[in-house]
Amino acid sequence: MKNIAAIILAAGKGTRMKSKLPKVLHQVCGFPMLHYPIAQLRSLKAGRIIVVTGYGGDAVREAFPDKKIAFAVQKEQLGTGHAVMQAMGALKGFAGDVLILSGDVPLITHETVDGLVRFHRGGGKGRPALTLVTAVVAEPSGYGRIIRDENNSVVRVIEEKDCKGGERRIQEVNAGIYIVRSEFLFENLKKLKNRNAASEYYLPDLIGMAVKAGRKARALTHIDAGEVMGINNRVELAEANRIMRERIADELMRSGVTIIDPLNAYIDSGVKVGADTVIYPGAHLLGHTVIGADCVIEEGSRIKDSAVGSGSTVRSYSIIESTMTGKDVAIGPFARLRPGNVIADKVRIGNFVEVKNSSVGKGTKANHLSYIGDAVVGAGVNIGAGTITCNYDGAKKHRTVIEDGAFIGSDTQLVAPVRVGKGAYVGSGTTVTKDVPPGALVITRVKERVIEDWAKKRMKP
Ligand code: UD1
Ligand code: CA
Repeated sequence: MKNIAAIILAAGKGTRMKSKLPKVLHQVCGFPMLHYPIAQLRSLKAGRIIVVTGYGGDAVREAFPDKKIAFAVQKEQLGTGHAVMQAMGALKGFAGDVLILSGDVPLITHETVDGLVRFHRGGGKGRPALTLVTAVVAEPSGYGRIIRDENNSVVRVIEEKDCKGGERRIQEVNAGIYIVRSEFLFENLKKLKNRNAASEYYLPDLIGMAVKAGRKARALTHIDAGEVMGINNRVELAEANRIMRERIADELMRSGVTIIDPLNAYIDSGVKVGADTVIYPGAHLLGHTVIGADCVIEEGSRIKDSAVGSGSTVRSYSIIESTMTGKDVAIGPFARLRPGNVIADKVRIGNFVEVKNSSVGKGTKANHLSYIGDAVVGAGVNIGAGTITCNYDGAKKHRTVIEDGAFIGSDTQLVAPVRVGKGAYVGSGTTVTKDVPPGALVITRVKERVIEDWAKKRMKP
């Protein structure tokens, strides 16, 4: 949209979070909560986005390394009005409408922000100086209350601390989401006073000021109070996570994904899942994860920043991180894929197998109890139970190469750097320290001895 700038207030410590971490960096479905209002403003194509930071400002800036976002610093948290004053420098020369959002309202949707702009601009004659979002809530404590006149027009907002008599009982509250004409903002922000119970410069005082000056202030009453809820403590944080999780699951289910128990599937925002995939309870799909179509993701699996190809099964309690798999793979149960793997189609990684920083070729099987680290494994390889790549010599990591079609017997150590040639066989119990030529057999087993009646002889006095 044209001529829109935005300010996001994120300087508060969030005292009620009882945390070292600035409030806006606490996570909602995989992202710091500040990510969400920023994302909405982006989809609105706001020309400038200014984030006001204060407490933990450096950490907040580092979490959003985006050149399109400007940061303004509020050294002392003297109130929401004072926070907006700090952003005025970055707004110099701007003419249009300024959206003001809070960093602690992550559930806000595109429809709400977009609707607010349209409502504000669609006022016809006597366009309002500002428009705010309100909500009617059962439990208004903590919020600013909306005071309306006999014509039902908004006249001002009273903070809870400043409420007198019956005002406290008003259930229509300020959602903390505003759009203000720039010229009104520039002119009036500096006139805010801190003569109130908190000795703070309240941004919502602008509403009373507009009305007193004969300008219009409008209110857009939001029906879904849950969406505009501000997060002030960890109970509300958990609630916001729950609502966001519900939304994510809803969208996936409508796109053809089966989620057995939606509230018990922990899927980060932005994760993609293909149609006809089935997700069992307690699965975690995190970060930048993409799951193909027709997959089964069993209970307790944790998949982060990974791509799992279509037709694959991730069995219970498997952990997959920064790994790419092809189609029709089977992982787990109890497998661990640490970062840096590229797994081809039809590979099977079974129980208690750990794979790290390795590539595994098409159709290869490592079904039980193995460690494969820093390895290049070809196609059609069979890795027997208890195979270990000894990739670390105490100082450096080394590479193991297993060429196509090789057969690695059980209980084998491959001491890297080492190469097992195409179609070679490694006998069970072998410690391989030298390269094995293609088609060869290598075996380092001690010759087997059978001593008859050994036990009986040993028992003799
Ligand atoms: C504010 C509103 C209240 C509204 C509620 C909705 C004021 C005075 N009150 O109250 O009417 O019902 O939001 O959620 O605005 N912040 C700063 N600098 C400051 C103070 C706050 O950047 O000096 C930021 C906070 O980090 C937060 C946002 O502004 O992101 C709101 O501040 P908060 O203290 O949570 O305000 P509320 O008490 O919730
Ligand atoms: Ca708040």
